Amino acid sequence: MRGIKIIGTGMYVPEIVASNDWLSTILDTNDEWIYTRTGIRERRISADKPNYYMAEQAALAAVKDSGIDPAEIDLVLAATCSPDFFYPALSCLVQHTVGAENAAAFDINSACTGFINALDTASRFLQDSDYRNILIVASERLAPHCDYTDRSASILFGDGAGAAVVTKSDKPMWSYLSAKGDYFNALYCKVDHSRSNCPLLEPDTLPEGIIDTESKTHTLQMNGKAVYKFAVDAMQTAVNKVLEKSGLTKEDIDLYIPHQANARIIESAVKGLGLPEEKVYVNLENRGNTSSACIPTCLAELGESGRLKEGMKICLVGFGAGLTSGAIVFEQ
Ligand code: UT7
Repeated sequence: MRGIKIIGTGMYVPEIVASNDWLSTILDTNDEWIYTRTGIRERRISADKPNYYMAEQAALAAVKDSGIDPAEIDLVLAATCSPDFFYPALSCLVQHTVGAENAAAFDINSACTGFINALDTASRFLQDSDYRNILIVASERLAPHCDYTDRSASILFGDGAGAAVVTKSDKPMWSYLSAKGDYFNALYCKVDHSRSNCPLLEPDTLPEGIIDTESKTHTLQMNGKAVYKFAVDAMQTAVNKVLEKSGLTKEDIDLYIPHQANARIIESAVKGLGLPEEKVYVNLENRGNTSSACIPTCLAELGESGRLKEGMKICLVGFGAGLTSGAIVFEQ
C-alpha cells in the first residue's frame, strides 16, 4: 500500500502585509474589484528575506512539530518556481539548515502544482525501505517575479512557505497527475539571458507565444482567462479521476484542500463537483496565491488548530503553470 502519514507541519509567513488598498496606491485598481473577482483582501510580501530563508523557517517548524531527529530524515524535497539560485537546489540549503545530514535532496518545479507532485514523489520513495522520513517544503517568493504595472496578475500573488514531514503508512493513498504542455505560454516567467557577456550569444530563439522584451523578461506573464478556464476544468477532472481510482465517493472525503488561486475558481469547481462547502478549506483572503506553498500552508494551519485528525480522508487538488494539475487522496 502506497500510504503516507503527515507527522509534522510548519509554515512561514512574511511580516509585510500588502492590502488591496495598498495596491490601489500603485495600480489602477480597488479593493472591491480585487475582492469580488478573486476573494483576496491582502497578501504577504517578503521584502528582504529570500526564498531560502522562508523555506528554512517552514522546514524547521515542520521538523520540530514532527518530533523526529533531523538525522532521521532520508530525503528533502523542495517545490519552488521562484528560487534564489538556479543551483544549488533549494532543498540543499534546507537540508543543511535543518541538519538533515543523512538526507538526499532535490527540487521539483511544477509551479503551483509543486506540493502535489512532491508529495506523490515522496510516497513513491517511501515504498523503498531506505526512505523512512521525507521532508517536503514548498516555498515561493513571487513578488520579484510580478510586474507591478500589470493589474490583472500582480494582485493575485503573495509570498510564503509551507512544509510537511511525511512517513510511510499502511493506510491507502491515490494520486492523479497531469500536464498539458500545449498551454505552456498561458503562464510563464522567462529567464533573462541578455546580461551574458559571451560574445557568441545572440537573442534566444523563443517558442511561439513567448514574448521577450525588456519589460517582459524575468516577470510573470499570464493569460488570466485561459488559466481560469483550464483551472475550473482541471480541478474537477483531477478530483473525479483520483476518486475513481480510489473507489471512494465525494462524500467519503472529510476534507478538500484546493490550490488557493482565486475564490471564484474554487467555487466553480466545488459547485461543478457538487462538494459540500464546509468540507473545503480556503485561506486565500489573507494570503493570496502563494503558488506551491498554498496547500502546505493550509495543512500547517489545520495542523496547528488541531483539525488534522488521524483517520481523516483528505483530498488535495491543484493546478499551475505548465499547465499542470493533479490531485491526491490519502488517509491521515
Ligand atoms: O496559480 C495559478 C495562477 N493564475 C490564476 O489562477 C489566474 C486565473 N485567472 C483569474 O484569476 C482571473 O482571470 C483574473 C483575476 C486574473 C482576472 O479576472 P477576470 O474576471 O478574468 O477579468 P478580465 O481579465 O476579464 O478583466 C475584466 C476587466 C477588464 O477591463 P475591460 O477590458 O472590461 O474594460 C480588465 O482590464 O477588468 C479589468 N481589470 C481590472 N480592473 C481593476 C483587470 N484587472 C483589474 C484590476 N482592477 N486588478
